Order: sequence, then C-alpha cells, then structure tokens
Amino acid sequence: MQLLPLLAWALLPGCRAWVRGPNTVRGFLGGSLSVNCTYQPSDVMKPKFWCYPAKAFFTCDGDDIIITSKDKPMVRQDRFSIWDHRAQRVFTVTVENLAEEDAGTYLCGVRTGRTQFDRSHSVEVIVSPGHSVPAPTLSPGPAIPPTTAAPPGTPDPFRYFPVLAGLQVLALLAMSGAVLWVSLRGG
Ligand SMILES: *[C@@H]1O[C@H](CO)[C@@H](O)[C@H](O)[C@H]1NC(C)=O
Repeated sequence: MQLLPLLAWALLPGCRAWVRGPNTVRGFLGGSLSVNCTYQPSDVMKPKFWCYPAKAFFTCDGDDIIITSKDKPMVRQDRFSIWDHRAQRVFTVTVENLAEEDAGTYLCGVRTGRTQFDRSHSVEVIVSPGHSVPAPTLSPGPAIPPTTAAPPGTPDPFRYFPVLAGLQVLALLAMSGAVLWVSLRGG
C-alpha cells in the first residue's frame, strides 16, 4: 500500500514543487490581502494566474480571476491585481475590499499551455470580521485573537490530487489490460 502513493507521485513529476506559496492567507472584511507565489526560472515569461475554484489536476482553466500575459506582467482589474516580479520569480496577487464571499480555496499558478497541466499551488483564503468588532465575552477565559496563524503542517486538501490522478492512471492501465486479455482470448 505504501507503493501506490509513491508510484502516483512519480507519475506526475510536472506538478511537484513548481509553484510555491502560502497554504493559508488571512484578511479582514473590507481590508486587503496579498499572496506571493514563487515559480521556476523556466516559467518567467509564461502567464501567471489566480483562479477559483481550484479543481483537480492543478488547473482551473476558464475560471481565472486574473491572469498576466507575456506582454503584461502587471494586470489590475477592479478589486484584483497580479504583478509578476520576473527578476525575483515571484508573483503577487492582491485582493482589495475583501468580502465574505472571497473566502475559499484558490490556485496561484503558471499557465503552461493547452496540452499540459497548469503548475499551481492552492491557497486557502480566510476572511475574518473587522479588527474593531469586539469579541463576544460570554465565556470566561482569554479570547482567541482573530489573527491566530494556522498551525504549521495544516493539511493541504490538494496534496492528494496526485494520488487520485495516479489511481486513475492505474485504473486505465488495468482496464486496457482487461480489454486486451478479453480480445486475445476471444480471437
Ligand atoms: C512579495 O514579494 C515582493 C517582491 O519580492 C515583496 O516586495 C513583497 O514584500 C512580498 N509580499 C509578501 C506579502 O510577502
């Protein structure tokens, strides 16, 4: 059983560690937040995106909220902006005037082309109520500050996508094997 995830991981080498960033970012209602995602030197001129919802296979083609292009490393569009700092191989996504609906799991990534999986990293956006709202004091004891950082090692829901993808590949192989076997036997 240990071999399966390992095999799956090996089957999708293109998706590993190409884009890195925070697993969680927090912002306040009405405030703004910035996310920095880093990428590999080979992707400097490729489009960088911020998209929602995050889907399997590290992509969400068609659901980009904002995306750069070769000629436009900085793009601004209402509350969103994306700025590709090519010299540092990091792009910064900024969301302003945060609303409750902005909470969710997004992808920051590199658009590689039609025939390849995007290279991306999933980022959970958490929107907290404003600073000035006092915490309810119904129970005694110290109030938990709203800005408590996520504990290190928080499980990343997208960690298992490569495993799922690998399982699909294995299922496909098994099915084609069965078809071959049946047709050889029948013929
Ligand atoms: C993101 O990266 C830029 C460029 O390296 C840097 O100036 C900025 O401080 C970073 N922001 C965050 C939120 O880490």
